[in-house]
Amino acid sequence: MGKAKPKDVFKDQVEQGLSHPETPFDDDDRDPSLRPRTLKEFLGQKAMKENLAVFISAARERNESLDHLFLIGPPGLGKTTLAQVVARELGAEFKVTSAPALEKPKDLAGILTTVGEKTVFFIDEIHRLKPAIEEMLYIAMEDYELDWIIGAGPGARTIRIPIPPFTLVGATTKAGNVASPLISRFGITCRFSFYEKADMEAIVRRSAGILNVSVSDDGAALLASSSRGTPRVVNRLLRRMRDFAQVAGESSVTGRVVSEGLKRLEIDELGLEKHDREILKVIIERYGGGPVGAETLAISVGEAVDTLEDYYEPYLIQTGLLQRTPRGRVVTALAYKHLRLEGAKNASNKTASLFDTP
Ligand SMILES: Nc1ncnc2c1ncn2[C@@H]1O[C@H](COP(=O)(O)OP(=O)(O)O)[C@@H](O)[C@H]1O
Ligand SMILES: [Mg+2]
Repeated sequence: MGKAKPKDVFKDQVEQGLSHPETPFDDDDRDPSLRPRTLKEFLGQKAMKENLAVFISAARERNESLDHLFLIGPPGLGKTTLAQVVARELGAEFKVTSAPALEKPKDLAGILTTVGEKTVFFIDEIHRLKPAIEEMLYIAMEDYELDWIIGAGPGARTIRIPIPPFTLVGATTKAGNVASPLISRFGITCRFSFYEKADMEAIVRRSAGILNVSVSDDGAALLASSSRGTPRVVNRLLRRMRDFAQVAGESSVTGRVVSEGLKRLEIDELGLEKHDREILKVIIERYGGGPVGAETLAISVGEAVDTLEDYYEPYLIQTGLLQRTPRGRVVTALAYKHLRLEGAKNASNKTASLFDTP
């Protein structure tokens, strides 16, 4: 009886929860080997990479530390990876922390007193630094000195401890929340954009090679276009498709496996997950298409504002489904069309100019 429905081999797996995306901020490196180690292995982001290669080789030639580096972009695009690559290309030591882990000035001082010449010191989520720590970092970045207060009360005094010239690499998903004195101390800024399809395909091929998975051309193409221009997502989906192929008894990840697998995971042809579509639907159904403020929207969809702003919105904006306006979030006509909802006419009136071709 059961064999009449061969497609349902996937059903159990889906019911066990695979349809839920893993948390977007999960540093999903179950396969650390997937992380590129050199600039050459770091695919895509061509202009940014070429400039960096120049700055790195110039610093090496002068035998100096690289200027402080500021990395901006949505999660999963390769900020942490690039920081490690830079250290490796410089032949320098790599130290890592994240702003929320630095609770007291002494936490930062503890690290800064151990950096060596040219050490690459990576601070993730740098928009979340506490003011007292930020102050200390300003001086460290600019003068390579550490202000340290000894004693308490009237006898207290500040001593300045020199530290070796190091390179600070700060990463953020929210450049708008970084204080301008901090921004101005970075000599190099790299702004990540979502990866183009050809680069995503190259990433699929590279990862498949490392994981020893065979992927057909149409499978790779479909994976590349359904992964929201994000390497972390495409690596995650590749692992899932490998599971689907295996359970379906296919020896390789074919276009059919991918298309069936994506359906099972409720990922559509634009790469939107169920939750992306829910966000659009909530704006349409509860707020008449918008504008609605980020906080209100976050509560309505049961998401933290940060997750909404950092993970979901950038891709919805990039695909032209959502706009950020001073009064709040507004869905576009494209979103109505994509969701095949009524009301497309109203919305297209509202945002007509965006989609008009003269
Ligand atoms: N340019 C790239 N080429 C190939 N793989 C990449 C690239 N950038 C990121 N990745 C992969 O995506 C994963 C997520 O990257 P990560 O650096 O952790 O992103 P972020 O720090 O911006 O959130 C990495 O583990 C790596 O395997
Ligand atoms: Mg990271």
